[in-house]
Amino acid sequence: MKKKLWQGRFDTPLSAAADAFNQSISFDRKLFDADIDASLAHAAMLGQCGILTEEEAERIRSGLDEIRADVAAGMEIGGDAEDIHSFVEGELVERIGDTGKKLHTARSRNDQVATDMRLYVRRSAGAVMAALKDLISVLLSRAKEGIRYVMPGFTHLRKAQPISCGQYFNAYAEMFLRDIDRFSACRERLNVMPLGSAALAGTSYPIDREITRKLLGFGSVSQNALDAVSDRDFIAEYLFCASLTMAHLSRLCEDTILYTSDEFGYWTIPDEYSTGSSIMPQKKNPDLPELVRGKTGRVYGELVSILTVIKGLPLAYNKDLQEDKEGFFDAEFTLLSCIGIYAALMKKITLNKDTMYEAAAGGYSTATDVADYLAKKGVPFRDAHAITGKLVRESIAKKKQLHELTLAEFQEASAMFGEDILQTVNVRASVQARSSVGGSSAEAVRAGIRSVERRLNKYKL
Ligand code: ARG
Repeated sequence: MKKKLWQGRFDTPLSAAADAFNQSISFDRKLFDADIDASLAHAAMLGQCGILTEEEAERIRSGLDEIRADVAAGMEIGGDAEDIHSFVEGELVERIGDTGKKLHTARSRNDQVATDMRLYVRRSAGAVMAALKDLISVLLSRAKEGIRYVMPGFTHLRKAQPISCGQYFNAYAEMFLRDIDRFSACRERLNVMPLGSAALAGTSYPIDREITRKLLGFGSVSQNALDAVSDRDFIAEYLFCASLTMAHLSRLCEDTILYTSDEFGYWTIPDEYSTGSSIMPQKKNPDLPELVRGKTGRVYGELVSILTVIKGLPLAYNKDLQEDKEGFFDAEFTLLSCIGIYAALMKKITLNKDTMYEAAAGGYSTATDVADYLAKKGVPFRDAHAITGKLVRESIAKKKQLHELTLAEFQEASAMFGEDILQTVNVRASVQARSSVGGSSAEAVRAGIRSVERRLNKYKL
């Protein structure tokens, strides 16, 4: 076993079992790039502040560059190092000798790991935002295609009113746009640099944290070292953003599963994105949306996990905080793969516009339009509702849809009905009539799509 960074005060080495349990290199190797970036900035600052000689700082820089190049060329990260920080330092000392041991001056693994995680999460939030942008672009193109397609809109999963298929897809674009906004705010808030906090109390070396801040592109430096080394709020926040994004994906999954079923038939999933049954030859299953829906629980689990890790921790750093990583990496991977597969799937589904139209025309979905028609003629809305309800009841008995009724049948229900009621109960007319901001008419949907595009372009990815 390699000597530990902290071995000095111990008589005997850590037992193999304790070492295996304690290590984090098996997962924090993902922080390699962030650790190199932060170490380069730290060494440059130590050199500029005269804490190391310029020559020492330069040797450290070239050593770190060399390690990065070797890893890029395939060198394995790990070996018997305890964590990524020990690995990088060990490699450095091996390459440049004793000068490498000076890199840890005015630094602790506590501020180092907090900085690495922020760098990693900052990059990850950007990657999620970019993936969401791709997904939104697909949804917007489906929305544009469907502006004039009529489909049933549901409440309580019962046909409620006919809507534009464009409005449907744009609703999900709105959700994912809010997710981008949340990740953007999360990224903004986490952009505070802990480096320079040292173990917990700050340092007696004359460091200049502004130098490292600028080199690492942080917006500001942390103002309380105790808080800075033990703060993992940003991970909880990222995982909340991830959870809500998964919730939105999961809703879309549920719609996909329903709408592609034989019973609905609104969309078709192409063969490349469907799976079969090992026993029932006729089946074409929606495994992908089901998996995404299932993975939502996993991401929620990681959020609950970090919240539980944080709770009850005495100030400042505690090793519990090492538990922030595996859940984060798992959630990140899960989220990115779910967004990616959904963008691909949504691009490929077929919209069956005739089936959607027929479904919208049934189910008395223009009943509200009939009630509104009477109300606009001066019948109090409550009475209009009752008259229309009775009309629906009678139509069900006659096995007729509202648009199949004759003018005489309407006038039996109320003398207020004129010829134009026959046009009002047409589903297309019903959709077109809903022209309020955010509504289902073609113009309103077009404006809604443009609004999403405008807001989407605001974000720096
Ligand atoms: N692997 C540790 C972590 O992830 C690094 C920090 C270790 N600090 C310490 N005081 N033991 O939290």
